[in-house]
Amino acid sequence: MNRIGVLTSGGDSPGMNACIRSVVRHGMARGMEVIGYRRGYEGLIDNDGIRMTSRSVSGIMQTGGTILQTARSKRFLDPDVRAEMVQRLKADGLDGLVVVGGNGSFRGAVELVALGMPVAGVPASIDNDIGGTDMAVGVDTCLNTIISAVDKIKDTAGSLPRPFIIEVMGRKSGYLALLAGLACGAEMVVIPEEPVELQALGKIIVDAYHRGKSMFICLVSEGATVTAREITDYLKLHIPPEGGGPRLSILGYIQRGGSPSAFDRILATRMGVAAVNALADGQHSHMVGLNGNRITATPFLEAAAMTPTIEPGLSEMAVTLSQ
Ligand code: F6P
Repeated sequence: MNRIGVLTSGGDSPGMNACIRSVVRHGMARGMEVIGYRRGYEGLIDNDGIRMTSRSVSGIMQTGGTILQTARSKRFLDPDVRAEMVQRLKADGLDGLVVVGGNGSFRGAVELVALGMPVAGVPASIDNDIGGTDMAVGVDTCLNTIISAVDKIKDTAGSLPRPFIIEVMGRKSGYLALLAGLACGAEMVVIPEEPVELQALGKIIVDAYHRGKSMFICLVSEGATVTAREITDYLKLHIPPEGGGPRLSILGYIQRGGSPSAFDRILATRMGVAAVNALADGQHSHMVGLNGNRITATPFLEAAAMTPTIEPGLSEMAVTLSQ
């Protein structure tokens, strides 16, 4: 491998910059030229790449977002666009590519491999919904952001008799809601993996209110079968408005930004190095991952088949411990 590319794709996550830094500097240390493509697969199609140097990645380790920017590319879905693009990349002497992103990005990577372009993937998404790794880059920082936001909300929740319904991100995964719920001592966690019925769920909160439970924090994953807004509307009909009544808080995009935690910086750094090594060592269709405390490499298709599951008993544990 003499010349490799690096790009970030899909939703940004904290730690992507630490990963870019690691790919660039480790690639250079192994004698490679590293091209940084802007805006994910969009930049690859437009040939929007620049030769990275050690200096281009100075001072980025502690920043959220991605200096290469990112995109969810529609054009990339067109097989003719992809074929033409790979032909041009090969003619430019590109020997391989590191793709930092999530499930959609890796489906794209498989298409590139099929056209003869070696790819190594680094899992990065706050949702922690990627098979083949215990943790993706950005999850730990995001959890810390949620925890700090909920801790602040708890100050008000403990001062006035109002239940708080808090929506967190996660797409179809309840990982963020569940783990944040455990870390914050939330009274209830609602996740897509465990479908619930609005009336039954609402009754638990209403009963707790009438028993005099002074604080009730309900964390709802955005992909859950009942939404945070539906729960809040139900409670407004069943809880008297003293103290202001039930409150809804949607944490939104603050969850995706911010300076990466120590865990994410180290994870991103280790994974960036491993991705370059995978390409150099002939693993040409693999996603690197963290399994236990080991960095591994799993073929994309195998990783995609390993749907991450929620550890059994965790949500029960969260509820039991918050009583
Ligand atoms: O995948 C990360 C994520 O932040 C999800 O939790 C959320 O549903 C989605 O991205 C939002 O995506 P967009 O950037 O398209 O608004």
